[in-house]
Amino acid sequence: MTNIVRYDRGAIGFHWIMAALVVIVGVLGLLHDSWPKGTQSFWINIHALCGLALWALLLARFWWRRRHPPPPLPPEAGGLSRALARPVQLLLYALLFVIPVLGIVTFIWHGRVFDFGLFKVDFEVQKNRAIFGPTEDIHGYLAYTLFTVAGLHALAALWHQFVRRDGLLSRMWPAGR
Ligand code: HEM
Repeated sequence: MTNIVRYDRGAIGFHWIMAALVVIVGVLGLLHDSWPKGTQSFWINIHALCGLALWALLLARFWWRRRHPPPPLPPEAGGLSRALARPVQLLLYALLFVIPVLGIVTFIWHGRVFDFGLFKVDFEVQKNRAIFGPTEDIHGYLAYTLFTVAGLHALAALWHQFVRRDGLLSRMWPAGR
């Protein structure tokens, strides 16, 4: 194995904080119907705020990436990995961008109010099922797509690290040399 060229600290921080948030926001989303009726609005608001934080981090990550390009793939990486790496990353970025936008539309046209604790943001929009019905469905379908693509992305990283042993995961691992 040749010397591993690692991502910089900023990219590693964005990657793992966003990965953790995807899990938290995703699990909260899947649990929406399981909460007791009286607490559903509270949990949907928590889901929305964590989703907004994820979206803000994504925008910050785009800005960061313009100044900190990722290191090239290791020379050991095969043709399939080279062909798939970029489209899969672009798909993940696109899903992470679009899913929150649909979530925001669903939230607002459901007549919900963002509660940030210290202050609230109320768009005073009338509940409109013709809008929030379809956006809620598409938001859910795209979230399931995100879980699948992110899962495959994680499996591919593990395969590289432990089967091909080309050190791909070490490039993004926080505590590496
Ligand atoms: C990448 C970020 C996000 C992920 C992965 C995600 C995931 C999910 C999932 C899995 C569901 C349940 C879908 C279903 O089973 O039908 C859901 C529902 C929902 N999400 Fe998100 N979400 C994200 C961001 C957001 C944001 C930013 C908001 C609002 C600001 C939001 C608002 C909602 C709303 C209002 C629902 C429907 C809740 C209900 O009334 O049942 N989501 N989300």
